[in-house]
Formats: sequence, C-alpha cells, structure tokens
Amino acid sequence: MKEKNDTGIFSEDQPKPLKPPDSFRKKALIKDDSLYREAEKDKLAFWSGRAEDLQWMKKWDQVLDDSNPPYYKWFVNGKLNVSVNCLDRHVDNGLGNKKAIVFEGEKGDTENLTYEQLLKEVNKFCNVLSNLGVGQGDAVTIWMPMIPEAVVAMLACTRIGAVHSVVFGGFSPDALKDRILDSKSKLLVTADGANRKGKVLTMKGAAEEALEQCPSIEKVVIAERTGTDYDVKEGRDLRWKDLMKDADENFSAAEMDAEDPLFILYSSGTTGKPKGILHTTGGYLVGVNTTHRYVFDHHDDDIYWCTADIGWITGHSYIVYGPLSNASTVFMYEGTPDYPNRDRFWELIEKYKITVFYTAPTAIRSFMRWGNHFPDGRDLSSLRLLGSVGEPINPEAWLWYFEHIGKGKCPIVDTWWQTETGMIMITPLPGVTPLKPGSATTPFPGIEVDIVDDQGNSTSPGQRGFLVIKSPWPAMLRTLYEDHERYEHTYWKQYPGIYFTGDGAWKDSDGYLWIMGRVDDVLNVSGHRIGTMEVESALVDHQSVAEAAVIGKVHEIKGHAITAFVTLKEGVEGNEELLQELKSHVGKKIGAIARPEEIFFTYELPKTRSGKIMRRLLRDIAEQRDLGDVTTLMDPQVVAAIKKGYTEK
Ligand code: PRX
Repeated sequence: MKEKNDTGIFSEDQPKPLKPPDSFRKKALIKDDSLYREAEKDKLAFWSGRAEDLQWMKKWDQVLDDSNPPYYKWFVNGKLNVSVNCLDRHVDNGLGNKKAIVFEGEKGDTENLTYEQLLKEVNKFCNVLSNLGVGQGDAVTIWMPMIPEAVVAMLACTRIGAVHSVVFGGFSPDALKDRILDSKSKLLVTADGANRKGKVLTMKGAAEEALEQCPSIEKVVIAERTGTDYDVKEGRDLRWKDLMKDADENFSAAEMDAEDPLFILYSSGTTGKPKGILHTTGGYLVGVNTTHRYVFDHHDDDIYWCTADIGWITGHSYIVYGPLSNASTVFMYEGTPDYPNRDRFWELIEKYKITVFYTAPTAIRSFMRWGNHFPDGRDLSSLRLLGSVGEPINPEAWLWYFEHIGKGKCPIVDTWWQTETGMIMITPLPGVTPLKPGSATTPFPGIEVDIVDDQGNSTSPGQRGFLVIKSPWPAMLRTLYEDHERYEHTYWKQYPGIYFTGDGAWKDSDGYLWIMGRVDDVLNVSGHRIGTMEVESALVDHQSVAEAAVIGKVHEIKGHAITAFVTLKEGVEGNEELLQELKSHVGKKIGAIARPEEIFFTYELPKTRSGKIMRRLLRDIAEQRDLGDVTTLMDPQVVAAIKKGYTEK
C-alpha cells in the first residue's frame, strides 16, 4: 500500500507498468481493447451478447429492468438451467470425455470426473433430493469438506431449482446452526469427517450439535470421506453411498426463471448477524461465465486451479459456476499448502501441469516467508497465468509471486470483487492490461466504478475516497435473504442509486485503482471477511464478559489479526486460563478463523461521551501509534491504563 503524505494525497510515483509478455499475448483470447470499446458503446448490448453464449430455454424479453431500484432484474423472463449450462451443453457439444474435475485428497488419493460422469452423478443426486422431498425453491444447506461431492450437491440443487446455502466447512456447529435457522433449510448435506493436516475432524458428529436446534431440517445426507463413526438418527440420517447406489442416472432439469434464486451465501457485515446474500440464476451465470473466460483467458487445454474453499464466493464463482460453464478442467484439492510439506502446492502444480493458478495474498505472503527453495525445487513451467483475490496484495508479494511462481512470464490478474458482486469487477485483462504491482488496475468491461468523497463527488487522482459501483451489473446480489431493509441500508443509502462497496480506494493519474481495504467494522483476516461485531457478540456471550471491543491489527501474513479488548463482570479475575477460554469460546461460536490472536483485559473501554466505543484508539494502541487528542473521551485515564497493559504484556 502506498504511503500517504501530510495532505492525505497518495504518492503518484508509480513503477513502470509491465506489459503482458509477448508469448502470452500472442495466444490470448483478447489482445486489444475491443471488449472495452464494445461495452462502452452500449453496456446492455455487451451483456446481452455475452448472455447469447449460454444456453437458454427461452430468451429474455429485456436485458435489464431498472424501474424499481435497488431491485434490479436481469434477462427478464429468460429461462435457463445452470446445471445444463455447466454440464449437458458440453456433453452435447462432444466434450463428454473431457475432465471436468480432477481431485486430489490430502493423503494423495485421486478422483477424476469427466463432464459425462459429473452429469450422471448430478442427475443421480437430483433423484435423491427429489425422493427426499426437495423441490423448487427449497433451501438446502451444504456443510462439507473440499471433495467432489460438494460440487455434485451444488449442481444438483441448481438442476432441481433448490436454493443452496453452502457453509464453509471450517465454521463451527454454532455458526452452522445460525445459517440453517436463517435459511430454513429442509436438508443438510454433510460428510462423516474431514482430513486436516493429517488429523481427522469430525463433521457429522459436530453437526449434531447444530441439528438439535434446527427443527426445519428433515433429512441429513452424509457423504463418506474419513470413515469416522457417527450416531445415526433413524428416519433422518441417510448415507450418500446408499442413496446414490440405485439412483436413476437421468433427471430432467427444471426450467428456471432468470431471476429465480440460485443460492444464499452468508457473509459478515457490521452487525453480529451474518448477511444472507442472495444471488439469482441468469445474471449470475452470465457474469461468472464471462469473467472466468476473459480474466483467466480460458483455453480448452487449461488445467485451472483456484485454491479457495467452496464455502466462499470465490469457490462458488471460480471453482464451480464460472469454469464449469466454460467447460474448463478444474483441479480441486482437499488440503492446505503446508501439509505434509510446505511445497505441497508446487508439487501439485508440477504433477498436474496446472496452467492457471488463482490464490490469495495471505497465502502468497506465507509462501514468501517459508522460503524460495520450496517453489524453486519444483517444475512450475506449465503455469501461464496467475491470479490473486481476497485482499490488497502488497507490491512486494506481487513481485515475489511474479518472479518465483510465474518465472517472469505469467501475467498476474489481481481481481477485486465481493460476495455481493458475485463476479470479478476490477481486474486486468491478462493479454491487454499493463500491470502495476499492487493495483487491481481497471474495471472489467461493462462495469462502472468510481471513487467518491463523503458528498458523492468523484475524487481527483491521488485522493482517497470510497469505492462505489455506479450502475447495475448482471451478477449483483438481488437482496439480503428476507431482509430488504438491511439490503437497502447497507448498500444503497450512502449514495442514492449507487452501490456502496465498503472499501476505501484511490486512483492514480493513469486511472488505475488502488484498493485500500474496508472502511467499515469488517476485518479481512487471511482473506476471510469477519465482522468485528460478530466476534464481539461471541465474546459477550461468555458468562464472564461484560463488554468487548474487537479490532484488526495489521498483520504481516494475515492482513489483519483479531485483537480483542475485554472488560469482565464484577468479581471476575482476568487470568491466562480465562483468556484461553475466551479464545476457545469464540472458536466455538464462529469457527477457528475468528479466534482472536490477542485478548486484553481492561477495566473499561475507551468511549466517547455519548458512549460510543472508540475502536480507532484501540487500533492506534495496538499498532503503537501516537494517540493524538483523547480529551473527548468519557474517561481519559482508560487509554493510559490500556496502553500500560498493552506494553506490559
Ligand atoms: O475489501 C475487499 C477485499 O475483500 C472484500 C470482499 O470480501 P468477500 O466478500 O469475502 O469476498 C472475497 C473474495 C472475492 C472486499 O470488499 N478484496 C477482495 N479482493 C480484493 C480485495 N481487496 C483488494 N484487492 C483485491 N483484489
């Protein structure tokens, strides 16, 4: 991130942009600015043209209905089925024998599914779902490890017209429970267990804690992954294998309206309650199909690997729906980059001859720290394109990625987007855009963004402002599940008619965008979005805690590390044992990713005279900055006390 000078203007001295390597550009799908020009001329015609690339059961009457903002409709009255576009279409086009999924487990076990085989599996699971009473519009929660069954379950939901809600496998049973309750799912698809760094984690057994409090769940389908035992509740729990054994391999896909809900994905916001982000069918598929094709320069012989988990939007859009709708071969890995060795990812790239690799800056920073000998010891020559997502990538990490992984010949697409946007919004086109390390460059064709000040005026180059999106885009969220008010309030109230991203950014004089991170109380920990309020709610849920304030402290690898300041109830002593207990409590309420790195006990939190917690001051204390004026505080002494406690730790 660039240094700000005294005037709040960001440094303009940029490194020279790097042109796409000739070897890459020659073979790139897009070599010039034609897509940008086409979209500039007529945005709706551009998107309509992209939609023509998909298979529709009935063509739309209107590309965009913007008569009732912020409730936009895309491809009005168009009918299609997502699974048909991801599977049948390719089989019908003679690609049945092409590999759709190449899977490797943590232990080295492998599984390949061709498009034809994947279609059969999906059809079988549709019959299973249908026999269990799941139909159009029903919600299905999927809580699974990174295994092909998770993709089968997602695609089967889309084929039937059920709405999936995938919950990240690393979330706790408590978090799972909240998400099941909110979506009112009828069915849970899970696994017996998950492999994690040589250990087996119980999944079905853990899910039981959630299920006790989830009356909407009628059936639970359990895939076998680890052979872990679990109690079977007769009449409710069913084994994936048993159900699939005799299931029919044919299932006729439902004709879905372009605006029918496709999935709900919960994401953190500024309150304790996660937001159920709702995506619909037609626009979403057009958005992810188009961006996957052009941003990742899709070639038929690619072996494409996105390292995200399927439980995040990156997994939805760029492991499942984008690449499969483009008939890509998707590599899927169950494990982590450091098990059994810290060259595991490079070993896999060498073994499978991965051509396109998409990962997160937090991972790249870890790779850097582990040392160059890990990637240097492997043959990475199959790679031709690299991607980054989830948080700002610092120029140092960008350059390391470019040199040590891409060997100077692979463009890097730094892609900015959100769970809400559904699709990549700001990104280079790899055969076209000169790159500046650390900048996500410019908006994708057809996307209109700006950086504005408090009043909504466009900022000048070098000046920090808020990143906004000025016109609707096909894969945009349509609302928050059963909470229209929060949808309007969160995204559309700051600047009427304009989507507020919650990110701060600035642009340079070449029009390149530099994203600076969240401006609200949302943290980005290792590329995962976590609301400070969520962690605070989890802390105050503990019997000993009176009040809590959570901040993100800048962290070299993770981006942010969760730091909590806690006041205890009268008579409770803050000792090491309680500190560990509180960390575990947050882990239990949300999941290991939300476990605070540091917790400090304090007799009071710094508050304004109106009682608002001053998180900014806590951040300054944690990052050891000068605190400036603290006279507006209700109790100025409290800062000195916290500071003392902090330095004495
Ligand atoms: O702050 C931005 C950051 O991640 C946020 C979105 O988080 P989430 O919905 O979890 O989706 C992550 C994967 C798309 C954004 O508001 N972010 C994402 N990508 C980038 C980024 N910040 C800077 N550069 C990026 N490339």
